[in-house]
Amino acid sequence: MISFDTKFFPAELAARAEALLPKAHKALLAIRDHSCLGGEATGWFDWPRQRGQALWREVKEYTQKLDVYYDAVVVVGIGGSYLGTRAVADALGHEYAVAFAKTGKNARRPVLAYAGNHLSEAGLVELLDLLEDRQPIINVISKSGTTTEPAVHFRILRNYMEKRFGKAEAARRIVATTDREKGALRQLAQENGYKTFEVPDDVGGRYSVLTAVGLVPLSLAGFDCEALLAGADSVFKELREGDAEGHPVLRYAACRNAAYEAGKKIEMLATGEPKLRNLIEWWKQLFGESEGKNGKGLFPAGLVFTTDLHSMGQYVQEGERHLLETFLMIEHPTATAQDGTNVERRIRVPHGGGDLDGLAYLEQRFVGDINDAALTATKVAHADGGVPALSVSIPRLDEHALGALFAFFEAACGVSGAVLGVNPYDQPGVEAYKKNLFGLLGKPGFEALGQGLRKRL
Ligand code: PA5
Repeated sequence: MISFDTKFFPAELAARAEALLPKAHKALLAIRDHSCLGGEATGWFDWPRQRGQALWREVKEYTQKLDVYYDAVVVVGIGGSYLGTRAVADALGHEYAVAFAKTGKNARRPVLAYAGNHLSEAGLVELLDLLEDRQPIINVISKSGTTTEPAVHFRILRNYMEKRFGKAEAARRIVATTDREKGALRQLAQENGYKTFEVPDDVGGRYSVLTAVGLVPLSLAGFDCEALLAGADSVFKELREGDAEGHPVLRYAACRNAAYEAGKKIEMLATGEPKLRNLIEWWKQLFGESEGKNGKGLFPAGLVFTTDLHSMGQYVQEGERHLLETFLMIEHPTATAQDGTNVERRIRVPHGGGDLDGLAYLEQRFVGDINDAALTATKVAHADGGVPALSVSIPRLDEHALGALFAFFEAACGVSGAVLGVNPYDQPGVEAYKKNLFGLLGKPGFEALGQGLRKRL
């Protein structure tokens, strides 16, 4: 399903990576039996088989029995509570879905919209404009149940829903995904009678896309969660059976650590498919929060080609040589039909009746093939310019492949963090800004911190 290629990874780095493989293998075995550092948060490993399939039956039953009409699903959450959902929805949904008519040949499926992942007032105003034209369902997702951004947005949205639909119908249009017992959101859901799903104790936010965090909104929006779980399971199966020595997950983890040890500071995940922009955002959070601690870690960055060749391409080709580039390749290009199905739809460069634009040599070639050539040309150029390249490839863009990618990168991240010598499941550094924010806004208990901060401003 997923292939991994090191053809443009220099020999001396490949040798270092080879030497790290036993350590990577040991790390995988420790994840498998949950004995690694942070092992209490490794419930994501083998999730589909252990608990995902059973959860999926529960989620499916909920979505099938829902007794309200809806044509918009608002996901209220930040970080791991929304990035995986957005990655799938943007990769497989139609870019212009929101503009299609509600009925007829091109009838759209429910549109996904997002709140609680920023504090922009303008963003919220515009979301409320969209909801006025829709029959929304709100899925508020917060593992801790106390994160400021989703909590503020949810209070506003709850208020909006109750005014518009009345308290009883608003309650039927709200589903909360949160900790089993802790946190303000759990209490709020209980008091208001919202349907709830759990974020498991042993799965951290950024590893949670295959739990109810991702399955509930994706199922509400009509994506094939069964295929998503099956794709992930295909990777976990390879990792849980036998000794998995030399598995691409381990090789990728070893290569990125080898590059880091050799002085590379930044890993760029590059794609030729703009629809994967938010998969890159998901990957950035996964690796950034998991490895960026104790003064260590590759900085995860993203590139969307060929767009970024005309902005960041110069730097990658000739700037500071502290870069590693991982290409995310799709073997068979697809496009999403207006009804949301992901089908193969190809466009060729037409005959132009002359060669005024100098493109006669491209006539009858598929645009996707030109894109592929551009990616290959870029990989070779960047490698020649001193940027080691790795490639992770999926056969096509669908739920199965995305599920496999989630499993691949989650496992690689757990292994890579262990090889680096950090706990890939905590995020102590995220607290610093939160405390300052509480101090500045005058949250009870944080007044002294607020006073201290104001003196410094
Ligand atoms: O990976 C993580 O744990 C974090 O990025 C969280 O997903 C993010 O901070 C949101 O937290 P919560 O779901 O508790 O609101």
